[in-house]
Amino acid sequence: MTHQPRIRVIGSINLDIVARVETLPRPGETVSGGILAHYPGGKGANQALAARRLGAEVELIGAVGRDDAASQALAILRASGVDLHGVKVLDAMTTGVALIGVDRHGENQIIVAPGANEQVSEATLPVFDQMVDATLCQLELPVATIEHVAATTKGLLCINLAPAQPLPPSILNRADILVVNETESAFYGDMLDKSRSLIIKTLGSRGAVAIQHGREIARAASPKIDPVDTTGAGDTFVGAFMVTFLREGSVAKALTYACAAGAAATLTAGAQTSMPTPEQVLALLAQS
Ligand code: RIB
Repeated sequence: MTHQPRIRVIGSINLDIVARVETLPRPGETVSGGILAHYPGGKGANQALAARRLGAEVELIGAVGRDDAASQALAILRASGVDLHGVKVLDAMTTGVALIGVDRHGENQIIVAPGANEQVSEATLPVFDQMVDATLCQLELPVATIEHVAATTKGLLCINLAPAQPLPPSILNRADILVVNETESAFYGDMLDKSRSLIIKTLGSRGAVAIQHGREIARAASPKIDPVDTTGAGDTFVGAFMVTFLREGSVAKALTYACAAGAAATLTAGAQTSMPTPEQVLALLAQS
């Protein structure tokens, strides 16, 4: 593919309210001394930005409330040239919010209050009259909405099965590419093993593997880094994988590039604030 890949992302938009702490609380425990920050987030918005930053033309379809959180949530996407015409502003709803704790190793805990994301439905989705190279979804919108997208979208469909939840087989059967982490892979188990889709499984700091018809077809290691904040690393991986796969047509090359992009995204705090440029990804690849 010689032109910039065109990717349509149908997904969530959140404002991330983040507290950095030494250690994350266990159930029933209170930890103090947190340092608070607000960052744009949401798996859909993050993946849209990652793909845009790495060279794709991207449109984002979703919803926010009519509130201050919406302007914060959309600021980096807007400044980066993601097409936001498909983002509805809903009067009676609040923008989605994620409450995130990040510990000294960069590990996180996330609680999402979806707000307007819950209202994205067949009724609010625009008519998809423009052709794109791929459509990308996650599972932070209602399952019925993803089911509708799977049934009506033409062309390449990639679904990041995050966060894991029960799904009708029609969604899994329609997807050309399914991206999971190890927890999600264990959750779907057999359904993935039997799937006809290309399965991309991320392995955290160990890299990622591609599986087709139950057979490993490619594997990549992650560059060794000292993570500051892992929030959004998986989203960066997905965006980077799609851009490279569409551009190069090679699963192996896309895995290698996406592992480096995901690692680069852990070097700074925040989800969207940490998304790398192509130069940063290449620099990390050159070191490894
Ligand atoms: O994947 C990270 C994202 O998950 C955060 O930005 C948060 O908003 C939640 O959706």
